[in-house]
Amino acid sequence: MHEELETTVVEFDAETNVGYVTLNRPDALNALSSQLREDVVEGLRLLEAQNEEADGVALRAVVLEGAEGNFCAGADVNEFSDESAGATSERSHYEFIREFPVPVIAKVEGYCLGGGLETAMSCDMRIAHEEARFGLPEVDLGLLPGAGGVQMVSQLASPAAAMELAMTGEHITADRAADLGIVNRVYGDDEFDEAVDEFAETIAAKPPLATQAIKQSARTAVQAGLEEGVAFDRQQFGQLLTTEDHEEGARAFAEDDYEPEFKGR
Ligand code: COA
Repeated sequence: MHEELETTVVEFDAETNVGYVTLNRPDALNALSSQLREDVVEGLRLLEAQNEEADGVALRAVVLEGAEGNFCAGADVNEFSDESAGATSERSHYEFIREFPVPVIAKVEGYCLGGGLETAMSCDMRIAHEEARFGLPEVDLGLLPGAGGVQMVSQLASPAAAMELAMTGEHITADRAADLGIVNRVYGDDEFDEAVDEFAETIAAKPPLATQAIKQSARTAVQAGLEEGVAFDRQQFGQLLTTEDHEEGARAFAEDDYEPEFKGR
């Protein structure tokens, strides 16, 4: 499947079960216009619709990326005065990604600033090109990051790191972002594309009910206290024990030459 929306490109690879949403306003370094925010949500909805046609869970991982060498240079500064558009849709695509049932991986190269970094941090994991640059520059406009950037850096890294990024507005390298825990993995030019595909395909090949439960578990971990989080995991564990995919995985573990096929049931 290949669909071109006004400001995103959406692709689904039925062989690997990986979906791709590409932010596609390269002339504006993929800055988040309200159209682009809507098209991210629409792209994810189109990918989710693949499940309806499949026997089981078709969509098993999503890669969110930016066209032509940049992830996203933040909110579209030309739309700043349009407060109402900002306030309603600004929230929606971030929340939609966070609440999307399937794991979403941000593939980050070039600039990843402001709302772009908030978008990447709303994804479940981030893989960066070694030359990617991360920052929260809103302070220079007399603002703070409006979609939870300080909260998310505080959770992924530390409150001190969040204040450093948001108060200085400085850009940091991919390696430093990885040291802080904001980025999962960093690759050089020769490995980057292949490594991201391989990472997404590895996750997409796992039992999808388990990866979806793990996403919810990790989200619970940052939102709830430990006891509530452990109770959630225990309940999910009990449910997963009853699935066909669990039986399939157990069989593959027991039998040497058996290649498991996970169906999302
Ligand atoms: N909103 C709208 N357009 C943007 C944009 C944004 N956030 N960021 C970049 N662009 C546009 C520029 O206006 C320029 O368009 P033009 O060619 O029509 O003039 C184009 O993207 C390329 O940007 P440019 O500034 O020429 O590239 P650069 O390599 O010199 O600098 C940045 C790159 C990212 C450092 C610089 O564009 C920047 O600081 N952008 C704003 C980042 C920001 O503050 N984001 C958060 C907003 S709260």
